[in-house]
Amino acid sequence: MERLLHVVQELSATRDLTDVMDIVRHSVRDLTGSDGATFVLRENNFCYYAEEDAISPLWKGGRFPMESCISGWVMMNQKPAVIEDIFADSRIPIDVYKKTFVKSLAMVPIKTNDPIGAIGCYWSENHSATPEQIKVLQVLADTAAIAIDNSHYQSVIAIKARQLEEAMDGTMLAIANIVEHKDLYTSGHQRRVAMISMAVAEEMGWSPDRCETVFRAGIVHDIGKIGIPSELLSKPAKLTPFEFALVKTHPEAGYKILKDIPFFLPTAQIVLQHHERFNGSGYPYGLGRDKILPEAQVVGVADVFESMISHRPYRPALGMEAAMDELLMNRGILYNPDIVDAVVNLVKDKGYRVPE
Ligand SMILES: [Fe+2]
Repeated sequence: MERLLHVVQELSATRDLTDVMDIVRHSVRDLTGSDGATFVLRENNFCYYAEEDAISPLWKGGRFPMESCISGWVMMNQKPAVIEDIFADSRIPIDVYKKTFVKSLAMVPIKTNDPIGAIGCYWSENHSATPEQIKVLQVLADTAAIAIDNSHYQSVIAIKARQLEEAMDGTMLAIANIVEHKDLYTSGHQRRVAMISMAVAEEMGWSPDRCETVFRAGIVHDIGKIGIPSELLSKPAKLTPFEFALVKTHPEAGYKILKDIPFFLPTAQIVLQHHERFNGSGYPYGLGRDKILPEAQVVGVADVFESMISHRPYRPALGMEAAMDELLMNRGILYNPDIVDAVVNLVKDKGYRVPE
């Protein structure tokens, strides 16, 4: 009983068909005291002998028509078969059994309504399976059925989640393209900031999920610029204080665009804070140090870094050296020192170059 409970527990925790078969295959023999066990799966009108564990080979890998094997009979009749003498039973295809050690067998369907397979056990001496042995087999089959269903739903859920994520990422890219169409100088900037942000997050040892969130935020971090006149965004001169005040509204505008889509909320918060600075001198709220989301600090540093190494309407590219100088000069002032160090490690030690 203890062993059976253990097997049932193991099966309940399994999310994979191969593991289900493995557990059943290894437990049927010692739980029933039989000389062999098979795990059969229904494949349309065929019985596929997927796994076995026996004193000598049975039919592993074989496929037999439903009408001509006992597992097919069990599935079609939705009930167990107990056969003490296989040579005296018309349901048995004797030719297939002659080459094996089998003299007696018991087999139960996996799922009684619309069976998806069967579990069998075999004896080398004539033996009539006891009601207890049949019960044990049926418990294993029922638990295997639940585990197989679980593994199926698990993979369906994983596929759906992936599709949803892809749809969301597509939406995100579409949103990013809107602002990039409006302002040629932003074109490519968000994508490059996203890639730099992700590289920095990875360098800092963040989890893949966190790195992906940082990447998503990078992709849309300037979406709020959609509400700012194009002439201002591409003005080839310094902005007036009034114009600059207008540009400074873009983090909040971006937040408002993204915040109502639950999946985008973490992104929205990062977008809102990407111009905050370590010493509290940034905007819109003047948050400092640990009041700023670390993700927003990474995007903020990547944003400055990318801007300096690219051309701007009001100046040519300043270059990698100047960008590194800016980060190092303001390390611990405008920028979180750990993030600056991560960028330095990436660029100086690991030869990181910003993708085109
Ligand atoms: Fe920005």
